[in-house]
Amino acid sequence: MAIAQTILTEGLADEIALVDAEADRVRGEMLDLQHAAAFLPRVRIVAGTDVLALTRSSDLAIITVPRETAAASRMDQLRRNVALLREVMPTVAEGSPESLLLVVSNPVDVLAYAAWKLSGFPSSRVIGSGTDLDSARLRCLLAEHLDVGAQDMQAYMVSEHGDGALALWWSIRVGGMPVLSYLQKTHSLFDAVGCAGEVIGLKGYTSWAIGYSAASLARSLLRDQRRVHPVSVLAKGFVPGDTHEVFLSLPARLGRRGVLGIVGNMSKLLRDLIQINRR
Ligand code: LAC
Repeated sequence: MAIAQTILTEGLADEIALVDAEADRVRGEMLDLQHAAAFLPRVRIVAGTDVLALTRSSDLAIITVPRETAAASRMDQLRRNVALLREVMPTVAEGSPESLLLVVSNPVDVLAYAAWKLSGFPSSRVIGSGTDLDSARLRCLLAEHLDVGAQDMQAYMVSEHGDGALALWWSIRVGGMPVLSYLQKTHSLFDAVGCAGEVIGLKGYTSWAIGYSAASLARSLLRDQRRVHPVSVLAKGFVPGDTHEVFLSLPARLGRRGVLGIVGNMSKLLRDLIQINRR
């Protein structure tokens, strides 16, 4: 719902379809958003439990699942969430064979792979939100420390969303200028990986930051922005000779056709990441 509200507020869609197994809950969310019509650009908002009828001919399908629970780690949710994808992905693909897929469900890198396999879509049209949020959290922590606006902080985390996210320390810049030398002794201050656990421990789930992250990915995709986001993509093929069908978060250029390419020569980084992920 945080994703839907942000997409609505930013005027990124002409029509938003909310699909959930709980008919009353999703109808209530739809009505609550519709009642804000006087404050927003006109958008058709529909909701229900019928995946095919509601999502048919979508430009972008965003796959989410019930909120993070404090009890389960992201990996603990794998079995339940793969079962959910098995249930909905073929129907989404049947109704919207040209759609882009943005997977937010956790563990997002594994589930982006599952969505790719279950949808039968080309990998360029299947993206996981990946470490876009981890990178945003790192930028937030660094910005506070350096007293600059987070939008002027450049910092990338790659590899796997959550516990396995890796900070590309050499990528950290303010206004294009490298600042790593100011941070050498303070790395531990920037525990972006621990942010979600802190929020989940306090409010039981995370929502607002992932809402903004997913909406910014939706904007880059739907508006063909060609912006670079660290998102989970099929790594195979981006490293000459690499044949691993692994979804990893890498700095990817996103546009209306989905993944347009990986930025820079990721060969060595990717080989290192695959080695790390193998262990
Ligand atoms: C988080 C969830 C989206 O990191 O995994 O907030």
